[in-house]
Amino acid sequence: MSGNIIDGKAFAAGLRARVATEVAVFQKGAGVVPGLAVVLVGDDPASQVYVRNKGKAAQACGMTAFDHRLPAESAESDVLELITRLNSDPTVHGILVQLPLPGHLQASRVVEAIDPAKDVDGLHPVNAGRLALGQFAGPDGAIVPCTPLGSLMLLRDRLGSLTGANAVVIGRSILVGLPMARLLIAENCTVTVAHSKTRDLPDVCRGSDILVAAAGRPGLVEGDWVKPGATVIDVGINRVDTPSGSDRPYKLVGDVDFATAFEAAGAITPVPGGVGPMTVACLLANTLTAACRQNGVEAPAWLG
Ligand code: GUN
Repeated sequence: MSGNIIDGKAFAAGLRARVATEVAVFQKGAGVVPGLAVVLVGDDPASQVYVRNKGKAAQACGMTAFDHRLPAESAESDVLELITRLNSDPTVHGILVQLPLPGHLQASRVVEAIDPAKDVDGLHPVNAGRLALGQFAGPDGAIVPCTPLGSLMLLRDRLGSLTGANAVVIGRSILVGLPMARLLIAENCTVTVAHSKTRDLPDVCRGSDILVAAAGRPGLVEGDWVKPGATVIDVGINRVDTPSGSDRPYKLVGDVDFATAFEAAGAITPVPGGVGPMTVACLLANTLTAACRQNGVEAPAWLG
């Protein structure tokens, strides 16, 4: 058996094109340009790349992007002040604070300061709570975190119905693992959430028809952990050093050892070019959803 590659880059390009079309429709109807504010505290090099890409992607689909950079040593009150300003700015419909934050700042306090209606990351307790309660639909439905939402889109596109599948999610983060598990439960999967303390992780993984790796550990999942024919979603984006003399100082690798897992999997996302582009495309979809709701307009149904 050998895997089929799930081309997240191509799928994301299609979703971004759809968002751009819907932005134009919304703008024409409501007379409003959706606005996304991206906040970066500090100068983490990977985060700088991510926020630049998010801003550029928002502009490319017809939105306004607002770029806010704060120094690493900013006090919590500085960050909260900015968020308060963005909450009351009518040209801003979505707010994203790039994580991780510098160590002296508490992410939960910062995220909780964001107006839940503008929380396009879906991390505010109101959105996380709605997701936990299974409230997805309508103007009061959860805004769903971008990476799990994008991963689910890829799974649905590849597999159609997920009903009855055994799914293992490695990782229990608020950003990916927990919301991913909740979405898969809503798809009628039987879900196991595994983590660093799970006993015999390889064996747990071998039981899964759907394996989502979101552990943040490069190459953790080896080919013989993958059930033949399983669908593997690799959420990891890890920078690993390259040998001296290479063109680049680092390369990006996932949480899955692609070369061996590809041989076993029925389908697998690569890194880069798998889940990463979906995260950005879903951020744009969530921003348009937020802008629609804030203007009393029905938002597009991204998941169908
Ligand atoms: N850091 C890594 N991924 C994400 C994301 O999806 N949202 C935010 N806010 N920070 C991140």
